[in-house]
Amino acid sequence: MKIAVVGATGEVGRMMTKVLQEQNVKPGKMDFYASAKSAGASVEFRGETYKVKELTKKAMKEGYDYLLFSAGASVSREFASVAAEAGSVVIDNSSAFRMDVDIPLVVPEINGDLLKGYSKGIVANPNCSTIQMVLGLYRIHERFGIRTIVVSTYQSVSGAGKNGMNELEEQMQGTIAPKKFIKQIHLNVVPQIGALLENGFTDEEMKMVNETRKILRDPDISIWPTTIRVPVLYCHSESVFVETRKAFDMDGLAEALEASENVIHTDEMFSPIDVAGSDTVYVGRLRAFDATRFLMWNVADNIRVGAATNAVRILLKHRALN
Ligand SMILES: NC(=O)c1ccc[n+]([C@@H]2O[C@H](COP(=O)([O-])OP(=O)(O)OC[C@H]3O[C@@H](n4cnc5c(N)ncnc54)[C@H](OP(=O)(O)O)[C@@H]3O)[C@@H](O)[C@H]2O)c1
Repeated sequence: MKIAVVGATGEVGRMMTKVLQEQNVKPGKMDFYASAKSAGASVEFRGETYKVKELTKKAMKEGYDYLLFSAGASVSREFASVAAEAGSVVIDNSSAFRMDVDIPLVVPEINGDLLKGYSKGIVANPNCSTIQMVLGLYRIHERFGIRTIVVSTYQSVSGAGKNGMNELEEQMQGTIAPKKFIKQIHLNVVPQIGALLENGFTDEEMKMVNETRKILRDPDISIWPTTIRVPVLYCHSESVFVETRKAFDMDGLAEALEASENVIHTDEMFSPIDVAGSDTVYVGRLRAFDATRFLMWNVADNIRVGAATNAVRILLKHRALN
C-alpha cells in the first residue's frame, strides 16, 4: 500500500502521521509533502526518518492508494483532482470539496457506508466542529428526529493551525498585534471564526449548518450556530440545544448516546484539558425542562477527532469495505 500525507508539517498533518502509526497502518511506501519552504525537513514514522518533499503535480500523478491532504483549501483545489485522476483515493481535510454533491462527506461511524465501492476520487473530511457535534447527535436523530439545533462553540487556537497556536503563545509572552485572529486571543474570547458573510453568519458557522445536514442526510434540520475562539490550545467544546420531533425521556437520550460509536456519555465534569489527546467525543450535562428540548455539553480533540483521526478512520473503513 502506498500512502502520502500532504501538509505533513502542519498541526493536522503531523497528527495524521502519528495516528497512522498508532493504528498500526503499515504502508509499503510512504511519502510526506509540504510547500517548498519545508522541503527537506525530517518526519519520523514507524522508526524511520523521511525527508519532506515539495508538493508538485508530477508527484501527484505518481498514484497512491491513499493521499491524506491537510494543506488548506487552495492547495486541495490545485492538487487533489490531479491525484484523484491518477487513481488515488484522496481524503481531504479542507473545505474545498465538502459540499460538492458528487463527493462523500464522511464521518465513518455515521455514513461510512458511502465508502463502499468508491474506488477512486476525493472523500471530504468534515469541519472539526461539525464532526464532534454530529457524533454526539446521530443516534438521537435516528431515534427522536432532530428538528432544531442551537449551538455555541468554544474553539481552541489549534483549530487555526500552527500559526494560531503561535499567536496565543506569543501573546502570553508579551503584547503583540492580532494577525491570525481578529482580536487579541490571550485573556480574551473572539466571537468570529472565518469570514463574515452577507447573512451575518460566518463561513465557519455555515459549514456547521450545511455539513450537518449533508452528513445526517436531512436537509430540514434547522441549525443556529455561533462559533467562538477561546484561548485554549487543544479541544473544541460546544454547548448544544436540541429540539426533537418525537418526545424523548432522559433514559432514551442516554441510551442513544451509549449506542453512539466513539462517544462517551458521562455525568463527570470534563473540560478540554481532560479530553485532549483522546479519540472520543465526551458528552455530558444532559438536561431538559420538557420532553422535546434538551441541552448538552460536548468536548473533543479537534486535531484528532475533528481532523486526523477521522481521516485515518476513513482510510481504514474504506480499506475494510473495498
Ligand atoms: N486545525 C484543525 O483543527 C483542523 C481541523 C479540521 C480541518 N483542518 C484543515 O486542515 C488543513 C490544515 O490545517 P492545519 O491546522 O494543519 O494547518 P497548519 O498547521 O497551518 O499546516 C498547514 C500545512 O499545509 C502545508 N502547506 C501550506 N501551503 C502549502 C503549499 N502551497 N503546498 C504544499 N503544502 C502547503 C504547510 O507546509 P509548510 O510547512 O511548508 O508551510 C503545512 O504542512 C486546513 O485545510 C484546515 O482547514 C484543520
